[in-house]
Amino acid sequence: MKAAHIETFGSPDVLGSGEVAVRTPKGNEVVVRIEAAGVNPLDVKIVAGYLQQVFPVEFPYVPGTDFSGVIETVGEEVSHLQAGDRVFGRSAPSAGGAFAQRIVIAAADVYAVPEAMSFEQAAALPTTFGTARQALFETGGLQRGQRVLIHAAAGGVGVMAVQQAHRAGAYVIATASAANLDLVKSLGADEVIDYRTQDFSQLRDVDLVLDAIGGETLEKSWPVLRTGGRIASLVEFGIKGRNGKGGESVFFASATPFLAEAVKQFQSGQLQIVTDSIFPLEEARAALEKVATGHACGKVLIRTRN
Ligand SMILES: NC(=O)c1ccc[n+]([C@@H]2O[C@H](COP(=O)([O-])OP(=O)(O)OC[C@H]3O[C@@H](n4cnc5c(N)ncnc54)[C@H](OP(=O)(O)O)[C@@H]3O)[C@@H](O)[C@H]2O)c1
Repeated sequence: MKAAHIETFGSPDVLGSGEVAVRTPKGNEVVVRIEAAGVNPLDVKIVAGYLQQVFPVEFPYVPGTDFSGVIETVGEEVSHLQAGDRVFGRSAPSAGGAFAQRIVIAAADVYAVPEAMSFEQAAALPTTFGTARQALFETGGLQRGQRVLIHAAAGGVGVMAVQQAHRAGAYVIATASAANLDLVKSLGADEVIDYRTQDFSQLRDVDLVLDAIGGETLEKSWPVLRTGGRIASLVEFGIKGRNGKGGESVFFASATPFLAEAVKQFQSGQLQIVTDSIFPLEEARAALEKVATGHACGKVLIRTRN
């Protein structure tokens, strides 16, 4: 099959394309003919070799975790799925495999894509939707009526986080650049801050900060918290609370528990999916480069041609 793959770590330039063998499926696995893949900053970091301690990979490595497609074959132990089913899911980062024409994955890790949802929409969801919910509600403990500050609200995770926090009844304050402020408002932000021209650190009495930026942004986020408030950081590992305020790193392990909820919200018209751009599989490197800029608005996707 055709796949984008790396033989060495580096910038997105190292992503090549060519023929890669499809792994033989085990009894509990399915082979999915991929229709679309979502591109995440995680893929950029793995390709760069930054995450070898956490998510070790072997060469040749096919990047990509988020995918959607059609089941081609099922293992002999799989009874609830069959060839022809439309599914989506997320593979483990060390396994990757989504920037390709086929993926072999445990049947338990895929979920049905409804007719009304396109393959592109489905591939946009696993990491972004799941991370947003895990960070806001499991790590952050966000409650109705609380004030949440969401950084990078126009990014892949951010557009999901704004919507999830809003529908949970939180007061949502969102940072984005000028061009994306209206989008973020339309997704449910009550207050928007242009991070390039306004200083968010003047805010006070925030219950939760969702930090997708780290560094100076994280540092300037502590004073905005009320005593007892907390920061959930997607990018800084091992953070700890200080001065009566909590801090915790988010480690998104599996999208599987969130897929049904994503479908449910989408089908009831309560979930918007924002697409930055769509690249053919042959241009996976350009897709990775786009994400590596750190300035995608919503999701960068790969449309796989079979
Ligand atoms: N820990 C975990 O388990 C986990 C899970 C998922 C994601 N993550 C990490 O979380 C981060 C965000 O992921 P993502 O998919 O949302 O990334 P993304 O889609 O690449 O985010 C891009 C967005 O960030 C905005 N942005 C850049 N600098 C900003 C700043 N200083 N303040 C506010 N917004 C800023 C950009 O806005 P402009 O274009 O307008 O500048 C753009 O809209 C990544 O580092 C990712 O690896 C971690």
